[in-house]
Amino acid sequence: MFTRARIKLTAYSVAVAVCLVSIFSFALFHFTAKSIQDAVEEDTPAAQVQQRIADKGIDNLQNALIVSDVSIIVLISALAYFFAGKTLKPIQAAHDAQAQFSANASHELRTPLSVLKTENEVFLKQHHGSYEEGRKLAQSNLEEIDRMTSMVEELLLLARSSNAHTKVQFSRIDLSQIIEKVIGTYRASVREKGLALVYEPGAQILVKGNGRLLEQLFSNLIQNAINYTKKGTVTVETHRGTKVQVKIIDTGIGIAEADIPHLTKAFYKADSSRAASKSGVGLGLSIAQEIVRRHKGVLIIDSELGKGTRVSIELPLSG
Ligand SMILES: Nc1ncnc2c1ncn2[C@@H]1O[C@H](COP(=O)(O)OP(=O)(O)OP(=O)(O)O)[C@@H](O)[C@H]1O
Ligand SMILES: [Mg+2]
Repeated sequence: MFTRARIKLTAYSVAVAVCLVSIFSFALFHFTAKSIQDAVEEDTPAAQVQQRIADKGIDNLQNALIVSDVSIIVLISALAYFFAGKTLKPIQAAHDAQAQFSANASHELRTPLSVLKTENEVFLKQHHGSYEEGRKLAQSNLEEIDRMTSMVEELLLLARSSNAHTKVQFSRIDLSQIIEKVIGTYRASVREKGLALVYEPGAQILVKGNGRLLEQLFSNLIQNAINYTKKGTVTVETHRGTKVQVKIIDTGIGIAEADIPHLTKAFYKADSSRAASKSGVGLGLSIAQEIVRRHKGVLIIDSELGKGTRVSIELPLSG
């Protein structure tokens, strides 16, 4: 598909070049030949010799123009093919990424769907399924439906926030308040897992941002810290300088160095985490990265396998 587009783009450029070169050469030939012809002094003894020289000059001009035009067109064709390739490269990369994304999304949705199908088929094949079995089936179905719902919601959020045309409302908001609110929603699950959650609420930190997206950002990061920590502490720190820095630090399973550069790609899961959390699909960090980018900030992940992870976010303060 992209090879054909490259050839088409080259052909259009060459067609334009052929038109321009032909018009220019025709005009040049016409005016030069006319002035050579005008220079021949007719009705003089030297007229015949002059006419022969003029004819030869016009012939030479014609040959020179043909050679130079062909050379220019060949050169332009090569350049046009090269630049068409260069122009199409990022489009092809974006297209490939989109195709990969759709394939991953379909695959992730197919898994819970096939679980739902198999469980229901098995239940229907039993002649006398008890009420208790029916309840278990409904519960398992609901879990799969919840998994699909949250994945579809995450995909929608990712699609909307990475779409440059989608307008996101920004206002001056207090980041401390947002972090406190998000932490509040995780206190119960942290207690249940036997982890400690450390956060010291500080003064107001005003940033220009979208409250809903920032809540989603910290929610994704804190949820990861909790999910991938079996024992120990999840700490959230804020530092205010020329910018605001928020660090989410855990004493969990950590991430291998080789995985770190890939974590913000959609659907990427590090090997170390597969046993720790079966439910994740690998979208949380790509959404986090997208939200930070929208807020003109930076997201950095430092981690050591078996020791823990630190995710640092830097955001500009509201002036
Ligand atoms: N705090 C952490 N400690 C260890 N590994 C982590 C941590 N945060 C992220 N990871 C690794 O990065 C991967 C990607 O994280 P991400 O949040 O994008 O997806 P997920 O948690 O697998 O699924 P979900 O879409 O539900 O968030 C995880 O699968 C895990 O391997
Ligand atoms: Mg996650």
